[in-house]
Amino acid sequence: MSILVTGGAGFIGSNFVLDWLKHHDEPVINLDKLTYAGNLENLASLKNDSRHIFVQGDIADQRQIDRLLEQYQPRALINFAAESHVDRSIHGPRDFIQTNIMGTFTLLDSARGYWSRLDGPRRQEFRFLHVSTDEVYGSLEPGEPAFSETHRYEPNSPYSASKAASDHLVRAWYHTYGLPVLTTNCSNNYGPYHFPEKLIPLLIVNALAGRPLPVYGDGRQVRDWLYVTDHCSAIRRVLEAGIPGEVYNVGGWNEKTNLEVVHNVCNLLDELCPRADEGSYIQQITHVADRPGHDRRYAIDARKLERELGWTPAETFETGIRKTILWYLDNPQWVERVQSGAYRDWVSQNYEGRV
Ligand code: NAD
Ligand code: DAU
Repeated sequence: MSILVTGGAGFIGSNFVLDWLKHHDEPVINLDKLTYAGNLENLASLKNDSRHIFVQGDIADQRQIDRLLEQYQPRALINFAAESHVDRSIHGPRDFIQTNIMGTFTLLDSARGYWSRLDGPRRQEFRFLHVSTDEVYGSLEPGEPAFSETHRYEPNSPYSASKAASDHLVRAWYHTYGLPVLTTNCSNNYGPYHFPEKLIPLLIVNALAGRPLPVYGDGRQVRDWLYVTDHCSAIRRVLEAGIPGEVYNVGGWNEKTNLEVVHNVCNLLDELCPRADEGSYIQQITHVADRPGHDRRYAIDARKLERELGWTPAETFETGIRKTILWYLDNPQWVERVQSGAYRDWVSQNYEGRV
């Protein structure tokens, strides 16, 4: 038995592969295109572990997906692969349409062919788990109830629209063809191996390098933060016991404004790695022009997952953010290497000229 994971060299995917192999001996076939966001260094601890088989490839390459499914005969496919950064989707949406929509379509089509050829028990057991986001539900006003699984879809960015489209395809493959799919819609993750284009790792690496800490607009936008290994445990639980065709929201009950997050990170860094000049990292906060179409608030109602499958997060924001900062302080080489030339190009494209 094995599972096929896509996007397993990215932030959540690599945490999932590491977490999976901590809990199981079942091999993982890891298909990843290794875009700018894919980093095999995240999986360096598995170098001599025969349970991890890495294959470089594109989820939109049907021949390769068909070949992998036939060769390894996995009992499940878990789709993490995506273009995932909202700001990049604003600057260049094409890759998001190609990977998130065409790629998911290709995976579904290949999985359907493979699944329909399986014999009785293996056919019954097969699962296609699609990892999605709370951003498909759009933006909440202050005081509005958190997103439940039946909240209408109202994506606002090219990224969230492409993820919404992929969720609809997954739903259709269940209703039309009976493919046993599961969908998870999760809130903002943070933790080790997070690429420093996203808010929390960007704050940590900029703070330590003495650079500005850019806060978009008034910084009062709200996100609901979940430590990444809690997302991994939720996915393991949904794979194990989720009902095909169902959707499960995953969240940490940790709503914070961006300003709260920035202050939290600065205060912890002041404690764990004080500035040489004895000033506070808070002095580096800089308000910059807002993200176009910026969603004001996300909040996830994760009660279905708790009620039906017994999942709850293990970390609070306070425990998770401390672990995260300690990980970045303990891994300066990883931090240095991900800030390559391509990363610097992105930083100047996104931040230069923001007033
Ligand atoms: P990431 O950008 O860190 O990683 C994406 C991975 O997918 C990379 O390794 C990349 O190389 C790979 N990839 C991209 N295009 C590919 C393609 N065409 N074929 C094969 N591999 C490809 O993303 P992440 O933050 O780890 O997110 C993983 C998934 O979880 C995404 O589907 C995202 O929408 C979803 N999600 C993310 C968050 C979050 O807070 N980061 C929250 C909820 C849901
Ligand atoms: O909600 C789940 C989503 O969370 C995932 O689907 C996405 O893949 C993931 O990237 C994340 O999207 P966000 O846009 O919420 O994450 P990001 O880290 O880019 O931004 C978090 C908040 O911080 C958001 O309100 C924008 C703001 N921000 C971000 C950056 C990069 C800043 O104020 N300054 C910044 O420099």
